[in-house]
Amino acid sequence: MDVAELVAAVGEGGLACEKADKIIENVLGTFSLPFAVALNVQVNGEDFVAPMVVEEPSVVAAASNAARMVREGGGFSAEADEPIMIAQVQFDEVPDGARACLRIKQYANELIALGNTAVPGLVRRGGGVRSIEPRYLGDGMLVVHFHVDCRDAMGANLVNTVAEAVADRLQELCDGRTGLRILSNLCDRRKVRVTCCVPARALASDDFDGIEVRDGIVRASRFAERDPYRATTHNKGLMNGLDAVAIATGNDWRAVEAGAHAYAARSGTYSPLCVWRADGNDLMGELELPLSLGTVGGPSRVHAGAKMGLRVVDASSATELAMVAASVGMASNLAALRALATDGIQRGHMALHARSVATAAGAIGADVERVAAHIHGLGDITIDTARRVLAELSRSTTSAPPPAE
Ligand code: MEV
Repeated sequence: MDVAELVAAVGEGGLACEKADKIIENVLGTFSLPFAVALNVQVNGEDFVAPMVVEEPSVVAAASNAARMVREGGGFSAEADEPIMIAQVQFDEVPDGARACLRIKQYANELIALGNTAVPGLVRRGGGVRSIEPRYLGDGMLVVHFHVDCRDAMGANLVNTVAEAVADRLQELCDGRTGLRILSNLCDRRKVRVTCCVPARALASDDFDGIEVRDGIVRASRFAERDPYRATTHNKGLMNGLDAVAIATGNDWRAVEAGAHAYAARSGTYSPLCVWRADGNDLMGELELPLSLGTVGGPSRVHAGAKMGLRVVDASSATELAMVAASVGMASNLAALRALATDGIQRGHMALHARSVATAAGAIGADVERVAAHIHGLGDITIDTARRVLAELSRSTTSAPPPAE
């Protein structure tokens, strides 16, 4: 598809009903969400336009605004591990766990080669099984991890193929009963790390100076570090941005979510994935999480929205896409903390929320902004008020004299 065709297809939701019917079962139709872009995203000195699919007002504006502040400090610095996913092959009733682990290690090369024969295309693209790790879990339960380099794929299908291909041989070696053969979404060998340094002056607002805002953000970070109730919401704000990029590029955001939250709880206490500190006159941010995003395969084959998202972000690899998506997550987190540490979240949020209430009340075109501004000004952002304001607007428009020729 050329760009014009893609833009037209995205305008219609990106997925025709006949195609949707081939992707999943019992299809009634399709379900559209807004497709937008975040601006100002600079990662490792390169500018990106980040595609975002999200239904929540202000997420895109807030991420773009925070990315602009980060840009004033030199942008995001990101790095990512090789795209290694984990295949788990599990056994029960293993008579001797230690002996089984030893035997599996002895036959590691044979097992790696066997895994690779199941994914020849991946091996041709430079990926494949890199190493294996048997783990005895006690009570006769053993699991063998296959570390698979998935290159530009998210990798679920590849990894599951490897897991199924090696199970019989492993079963002979460990003498147990074959259990599950499936990837792990805790892809902690495929992590991304992002840092940024924002000059305090870039954080200032009309009512707060930059140092005040910076210190408020640092206090908010410490709150999340001490309290899992807060850490959950802190991370939700981060995932607002990250998931939106994952969805816009056709990625499995449930996998991303599962891995992120498991990683956030790895110490036994659920913790923030991104923390903020003061450094001189600057605010320093640090984020780390496992992230399995792909730029090939999956919905990107059939969904015009996903194709468009990948075209817009123009990442050179899945690893680079992960760095951009994590940076947008960090920007979303920063934007939320900045708002919370100053005016509170509702002021900016309600102004934008008023537009969707106006739309829900039936306003179209220029009336959306008019009704939204009116109900926001009244401080009564409800559908009933929006309907009343819309009716008044329509009456005043119809009773107005026609414009002079
Ligand atoms: C709302 O979608 C996200 C926030 O609650 C995040 C946060 O509290 O940090 C604003």
